[in-house]
Amino acid sequence: MKEICVYHLNLCKSHIKGSKIVLLPGDPFRVPEIAEEIKKQNGGEIKEIAWKREYRTFLCYVNKKPVLVTSTGIGGSSTSIAIEELAMLGVRTFIRVGTTGAIQKHIKPGDVIITTGSVRLDGASTHYAPIEYPAVAHNEIVNALIEGAKKTKVKYHVGITASSDTFYPGQERYDSFTKYVPKRFQGTMAEWQKLFVLNYEMESSTVLTLTSTMGHRGGCISGVVVNRTVKEKITKEALMSGEANAVKVALASLEFL
Ligand code: URA
Repeated sequence: MKEICVYHLNLCKSHIKGSKIVLLPGDPFRVPEIAEEIKKQNGGEIKEIAWKREYRTFLCYVNKKPVLVTSTGIGGSSTSIAIEELAMLGVRTFIRVGTTGAIQKHIKPGDVIITTGSVRLDGASTHYAPIEYPAVAHNEIVNALIEGAKKTKVKYHVGITASSDTFYPGQERYDSFTKYVPKRFQGTMAEWQKLFVLNYEMESSTVLTLTSTMGHRGGCISGVVVNRTVKEKITKEALMSGEANAVKVALASLEFL
């Protein structure tokens, strides 16, 4: 029988050794860091099995079960390819591990946000389901991430995320090249705040919509790297603590899945 191989991820089914779970950071350089952390906590071997464009994959083991870490690149379109191709290879549980900007005052850099559902400000998810279709996280992943946060004692918030294809206009940032935000997005940050949306990021609506349309499990944990009600600048310290805490909680959640 001909083996299933996928083009963009440069992977074949035999490479992933039956992995059913994937952790999805955006940045390819985060992949070996997460894999090293898995090895430190679980002791198994880790192996880089592919790297093409933004898609880098490590095979790791958690409690002797194979788990993948694959980078998605930034935003909906590249993320949709990663999910499609991983699903073709047999992956069934998809957990995005990323960073985010908080928009509610009480959320601090270094906290994590566990997304229950996303406002679909992306384009890729609309190619999979009409906009009326909700981008919701699988309850088992939400619960596992909450357990992971409790276990690691990381401060966490659970709720709705605004997920935008763009970092600047879609997240109503005026510190862009033109300093102009098209009318469609003017005033949207205040509106999301009023509607108790917790944060902005760029991939969860794609992850959650696609996994739901496939009948698979999707979830998202994001480390807060800036609070937009306080300032716009992302500091190195905030980035490091947001990233590290999101990974810590994601890894701790795996035992509950
Ligand atoms: N990632 C985003 O998409 N937005 C932020 O503000 C920070 C990280």
